[in-house]
Amino acid sequence: MAPQKPGHLTYADVTPKSVYLDRRKFLRGVGITAIAAFAGKRLYDVAVPSPSVQAGTKLTTIKGPFSTDEKINTFDVVSHYNNFYEFGVDKEQPAKNAQKFVTSPWTVAVSGEVAKPRKFSIDEILKLAPLEERIYRHRCVEGWSIVVPWIGFSFSTLAKLVEPTAKARFVAFESYYDPSQMPLGREAGIALPYVEGLRLDEAMHPLALLCVGMYGETLPNQDGAPVRMILPWKYGFKSIKSLVKIRFVKDQPDSTWNLYAPREYGFYSNVNPEVDHPRWSQARERRLPEFFKSHKTLMFNGYGDQVASLYTGLDLRKNY
Ligand code: MTE
Repeated sequence: MAPQKPGHLTYADVTPKSVYLDRRKFLRGVGITAIAAFAGKRLYDVAVPSPSVQAGTKLTTIKGPFSTDEKINTFDVVSHYNNFYEFGVDKEQPAKNAQKFVTSPWTVAVSGEVAKPRKFSIDEILKLAPLEERIYRHRCVEGWSIVVPWIGFSFSTLAKLVEPTAKARFVAFESYYDPSQMPLGREAGIALPYVEGLRLDEAMHPLALLCVGMYGETLPNQDGAPVRMILPWKYGFKSIKSLVKIRFVKDQPDSTWNLYAPREYGFYSNVNPEVDHPRWSQARERRLPEFFKSHKTLMFNGYGDQVASLYTGLDLRKNY
């Protein structure tokens, strides 16, 4: 599955077919928005969930910034070697167990220290901005890495719409959790729903991707459908999947792996080859599907030029 060729596109071109073809649903949305405005209701209360987006729907993309020219992994590797503990703790389990995961309709609620709290349906998210293809390195804390043509746009695009207030200093993210669809979650050993957090300036950095697809299509369920975060300068566990809640908050929020083992997984979790995990070295990594750690791990996973300035004055050995 080759990545789409970038080109000069109009807004209509970058709107997924499944979205713009569904005119009736669009008109219903417009109608409800108008009624809400008339009734003085906030959009937060009336987002229209739409069932039109399924895993594997083709997306039209433009070329985004920050792409690496390293060799892209195959779709097969990226969609069959996953961490998604809600669907099992072994790497092959999510691909098998997430097949029936119901991801539509889907809404993401954005609340907290914002002037305009709001719920976004996945269709609304797909239309917020032209969808960019960004080829990022993705490095897991366990020592493996992959190169993936993700699709999405900067998280800041969505954040600006809700207008974070001066009190917002962090962003808290929460994944969907339904034990009836995710029975293995009970045996995962971590607290669920999965939660993660970023400092506001990290979340607003243009590299921070609100991701809705990969390899020219909407995300496979096991890769975090229908919408997830991708933070390429941080260990993979910061890149939370299947997002349903985003809260702008004053205080540093919890993060699942930090709660599980604070000595092993810090809040920042920037990729740092000089700070070993208490149980293994982080100096090298294996690029899937390789078996040996033949790649040197780079500071900030190679994105130092973009993000190092976010951490001026912060001791990155203490704040791992
Ligand atoms: N998000 C949720 N909801 N549940 C998870 O178990 N695992 C994290 C992160 N996001 C996880 C999650 C970890 S440990 C990693 S390394 C990445 O997802 C893996 O992303 P990938 O499977 O797309 O490579």
